Amino acid sequence: MPGTLNSPRMQPPGPRGHWLWGCSGELQRDPLGFYERTWREYGDFARVRIVPGMYLYMLFRPEDVEQVLVRNHRNYRKPDFFNKPLGSVAGRGLVTSDGELWKTQRKLAQPAFHRDRLALLGVTMAETAESCAEELSRGAAGQTVDIQQVMSRLTLKIAGETLFGADLSSEASSLGGAFKTAFEHVHLRMNNQMLPPEWIPTAENRRFRRAKAVLDRVVEEMIQARRRENVVRNDLLGTLLAARDDETGKGMSDAQLRDEVLTLLLAGNDTVGAALSWSWYLLGQHPEIQDEVAAEVKNLPDSRAPMVGDLAALPLTRAVFEETLRLYPPAPGQPRQALGPDEMNGYVIPKNSFVMVCQWVTHRDPQFWTDPNTFNPRRFLADDDQRPKFSYFPFGGGPRSCIGQHFAMMEGILILATILRQFRVELVPGQTIEPDTTFTLKPKPGVNVRLWPR
Ligand code: HEM
Repeated sequence: MPGTLNSPRMQPPGPRGHWLWGCSGELQRDPLGFYERTWREYGDFARVRIVPGMYLYMLFRPEDVEQVLVRNHRNYRKPDFFNKPLGSVAGRGLVTSDGELWKTQRKLAQPAFHRDRLALLGVTMAETAESCAEELSRGAAGQTVDIQQVMSRLTLKIAGETLFGADLSSEASSLGGAFKTAFEHVHLRMNNQMLPPEWIPTAENRRFRRAKAVLDRVVEEMIQARRRENVVRNDLLGTLLAARDDETGKGMSDAQLRDEVLTLLLAGNDTVGAALSWSWYLLGQHPEIQDEVAAEVKNLPDSRAPMVGDLAALPLTRAVFEETLRLYPPAPGQPRQALGPDEMNGYVIPKNSFVMVCQWVTHRDPQFWTDPNTFNPRRFLADDDQRPKFSYFPFGGGPRSCIGQHFAMMEGILILATILRQFRVELVPGQTIEPDTTFTLKPKPGVNVRLWPR
């Protein structure tokens, strides 16, 4: 019985799957469905057989999530099946590094995301969003666009501009093309553990190697040019270049800087674009909420385009983005591997086992959310929020939580407000849209909308 016996032989219930490959096939084919079924059939804490002798503990309760991400975080690392594909592009940047290297890097990178710095980056975000809205307004009234593609180009442009002042969304940019190839390679590797190793010269591996060489060369040249320039610029690269360790006085090496730049590009671009695409999908289904948000934006002084100083005056827009991240968290689950045994709910989690915290399930648990599957941004406006802390954690938690959280919120709110100020966004009827889980959680195949001037 859970909670009564703490013996390594007593194990929580859970699916065993096929005798040889356990549940690994199901987990890869349909992760969201698998999380949900496991939770419904086995409850808040389940042990999933991956292959013979290897188990994944799925934790759905906020207290257990907190134990892994915060209280006992030192006992957990990011597993190789997650780190290796990302590391092939981003080396040993913040997402994939561990231990002392991660600690030093996090300390050095943190100031780049300080409130004052973000306010400067927010100016670039607002301007880029406004020029996207202007470009869209040159199309005919009622034009149909795949808003997912529009968001993807816009967030890539913002990522490039805020990181190092370059437009990556331009077809002409060699960096943009190489980044796309590298990104696709990470997708492929994350979802396919059986591919030939990267050193084997398959066509795909060779394509990736060429792209990675371009990425490294362009970013390294950019770093060297900045070092020569000897001027501190306000973009993220400028702040990272200027960062010094308090104790040693040392900054980052060129190789480390390159890895951090590529990491921020990988972690920061697709996530925000994916979330915004879901926001449009949800707002398209709820025109009444869309109109309320538009009214909030039109209420800004002189009905001008939203700017970074307006964020506090846009609580409903913020709530829409928060509610989107609840229903469609771009990172719907994070895996960890136990470095030593841990104890949870009266059971022992043995050393080396895998654990998974899972926003997709916890964010829709009716214990914490009334009508959990309903899009209701107003739930984030209530003052008397009694929910446990880790019932909502789109940006993870603890020391490894998202360093770009406030950047992402600012970008999401500014883009929603800028587009809604000018357009009514209508979903094209008859589309079948489902979550694509190959990397960040995105609407598949896209979200076709009609844009009507307001
Ligand atoms: C809606 C957008 C975003 C979501 C939902 C999101 C989500 C997350 C989550 C859940 C983690 C923790 C991963 C784990 O514990 O394994 C994380 C880490 C991280 N995120 Fe984000 N993220 C977003 C946007 C961004 C942006 C805009 C940036 C950078 C500009 C960024 C950079 C990072 C980095 C560097 C880490 C690793 C932090 C560390 O381990 O120290 N993310 N993100």
